[in-house]
Amino acid sequence: MRVLGLISGTSHDGIDFAVVDFTVRDGVLHGSVGATGSTPYPAPLRARLIAALPPAALTFGAACELDTLIGQAFTEVAADVAAQAGGVDLICSHGQTVYHWVDGRQVLGTLQIGQPAWIAERTGVPVVADVRVRDVAAGGHGAPLVSMMDVMLLAGLPDRPAALNLGGIANLTVLRPRDGAGPLAYDSGPANALIDAAVVRVTGGKAGYDADGRMAAAGRVDQRLLDHLLAEPYYRLDPPKTTGKELFHAGYLERALAAVPDLPAADVVATLTALTARTVADQVRRYEVDTLVAAGGGCANATLMAMLADRLGGVRLMSAAEFGAPVDAKEAIAFALIGWHTAHGLPATVPSCTGAGAARVLGAIVPGGGPLRLPAPRATAPDVLRLGAAP
Ligand SMILES: Nc1ncnc2c1ncn2[C@@H]1O[C@H](COP(=O)(O)OP(=O)(O)O)[C@@H](O)[C@H]1O
Ligand SMILES: [Mg+2]
Repeated sequence: MRVLGLISGTSHDGIDFAVVDFTVRDGVLHGSVGATGSTPYPAPLRARLIAALPPAALTFGAACELDTLIGQAFTEVAADVAAQAGGVDLICSHGQTVYHWVDGRQVLGTLQIGQPAWIAERTGVPVVADVRVRDVAAGGHGAPLVSMMDVMLLAGLPDRPAALNLGGIANLTVLRPRDGAGPLAYDSGPANALIDAAVVRVTGGKAGYDADGRMAAAGRVDQRLLDHLLAEPYYRLDPPKTTGKELFHAGYLERALAAVPDLPAADVVATLTALTARTVADQVRRYEVDTLVAAGGGCANATLMAMLADRLGGVRLMSAAEFGAPVDAKEAIAFALIGWHTAHGLPATVPSCTGAGAARVLGAIVPGGGPLRLPAPRATAPDVLRLGAAP
């Protein structure tokens, strides 16, 4: 089954896509990875989305418009990619998270927009959407949903491997924590969210991120600001836990900078980069991880990766690309994988990772052009995933 996965993450920089052809052989799920990439949001749409995100007040009218326009932006990508792939059997669209309703260590709700009816209408292909909220209804965080793929993809690594994603937020999947209660997955804190906010602030919006980590490389880490930021109570909560830009946003950065004023811009960016490296490395140490497999946009930030490597000591740092998942496409592949599971009637969550009471089949399914026809449900789920580039 050929599945197109689509997602825009918390950085809302663009729509990531991946076409994956899945087959099961000898109990192992093989994914042949075809086209992958990212299509930036049209600039006016991105500006409108950013202006509408918390803490902004929003009307239902504006919410309807954004749901429609984002759904249509996803549709453009879906139609192009599906046509170039010579057709797909299923699309799984994560859409755009606009609110993740967290109360301490509990998630009460989560909202992804980008109306999937537009995708189904244009492509004629069934669409799995709204994938997070079923896990929330089952008592989980609805995140990090990439954890099932991490567990399947890194299953062959011995001892204590973990996966790291450096998006707007940093999330970790620890495969075999020593307490033996099953894999853990959670957000360690910001990855790029605060770095991006600082860059937008100092460049007046001309730049959206610290390209290749050059600004951070030119600055010095300010210990006072770092200590102030590390006092954030979120870092001391036990997993499972998730966070988002509801916490780590531009206003959060403003308040921190007010406490430690008059720092040169490059020092601010260097310190925020060190904050990400430090909070990730603390978790790697906490769970005695010996191999860390990284993905996400932050992998392109050379200063962040150097600071992280520096704090990891003897931990082996690898790229998800070495496991067949290009770092910019790993989450899109994960959503293709979730779509495949849903189509086969298989749960796509790891309860110890999301904190749910039990694993659940995820999503709502929008029929394509004709009656909805799904493959026969599979009795058992493959527990190993092997990815390779399509021939
Ligand atoms: N060349 C680069 N140099 C530094 N940072 C980068 C680069 N490319 C991407 N990034 C960072 O990665 C972020 C996007 O990562 P992504 O994995 O798409 O996150 P999300 O899932 O939150 O959308 C950007 O906001 C930026 O901070
Ligand atoms: Mg992104």
